[in-house]
Amino acid sequence: MTIRAGILGTGSALPSRVLTNADLEQMVDTNDEWIVTRTGIKERRIAAPDEATSDFAVPASERAMAMAGVRAEEIDLILVATVTPDTMFPSTACVVQDRIGATHAAAFDLSAACSGYLYGLSVASAFVATGQYRYVLVIAADVLSRIVDYTDRSTAVLFGDGAGAAVVGPVEGDRGLLAFDLGADGSGGKFLHMPAGGSRMPASYASIDAHMHYLKMEGQETFKFAVKAMASSTEKVLERAGLSREEIDVLVPHQANIRIIEAARKRFGLDEDKVVLTIHKYGNSSASSIAIALDEAIRSGRAEPGHVVVLVGFGAGLTWGAAAVRL
Ligand code: UT7
Repeated sequence: MTIRAGILGTGSALPSRVLTNADLEQMVDTNDEWIVTRTGIKERRIAAPDEATSDFAVPASERAMAMAGVRAEEIDLILVATVTPDTMFPSTACVVQDRIGATHAAAFDLSAACSGYLYGLSVASAFVATGQYRYVLVIAADVLSRIVDYTDRSTAVLFGDGAGAAVVGPVEGDRGLLAFDLGADGSGGKFLHMPAGGSRMPASYASIDAHMHYLKMEGQETFKFAVKAMASSTEKVLERAGLSREEIDVLVPHQANIRIIEAARKRFGLDEDKVVLTIHKYGNSSASSIAIALDEAIRSGRAEPGHVVVLVGFGAGLTWGAAAVRL
């Protein structure tokens, strides 16, 4: 018999430092009006120099475990979805395992960029469904400000830092993670990538001089892909869950650009008041954006037990994913 997995608790954590559009005007040739109309972003949170990804992953996890009523020693597996791990190795999941005291947990990192939370939830759900693990801690965390080139105005204004987490475990009745849609198109890798720092181009004086250790993005190509991927992935996941679009209570999209979210929403014919938005205050916080937005929706009472919530996102890879959940 397959066990149904559900989200038992969520948590999030953000840096306290706020980087406003006015701050960015002092750093690159940009202005508040351009940023707000083209992206919807007013400010974003940026890690302090001594803060790394696990410094946000740990408090986000502790909040998720407290909401779920699950102790660290009960966690069987920790997944950290990130493209900005504390170090290349050991994994950030191992750092978190040690810091929260999850002494019985296996731990690994997962690389699916901004789709990482959805990939992580899907892996967790599968482990719970087979009975191999009871409680899986899924963390989506990035400190993207470490790989953003603050001399490149086309990317400097977009990104922020943060972490979101969920405890996934067995549930009863009709609630739970009902369906997933995950996808990838590696031929689009060139549209959003970091050239240096891996085995293809190890960090060197030359790579640093050429700014190759920073994120590079073809904005318009990513934009076109994003709108299509968000709408079609939402469609697929509803079909798999046997739900109609009218049954969606809350949509939590990846917070990359208000125009992408709006275009996908219109294409999908969903009311504005069903869409959770955090982009104005956090920008695009990479893997953590959906996880943080879901946590805020749950804690504010906007997403309640029994609600059908659709999570949908896209990111580097290129990757995309959606999940239909009954809370
Ligand atoms: O999770 C990661 C996924 N990433 C994304 O989802 C990004 C998807 N793409 C986007 O969100 C948008 O393409 C951007 C926000 C990145 C750019 O918006 P756009 O409407 O596609 O602008 P554009 O690239 O076509 O540039 C329009 C103009 C250009 O000037 P010219 O050539 O028309 O004179 C740019 O140089 O805007 C200029 N520009 C800026 N101006 C002021 C680009 N960045 C800025 C800036 N401030 N920060």
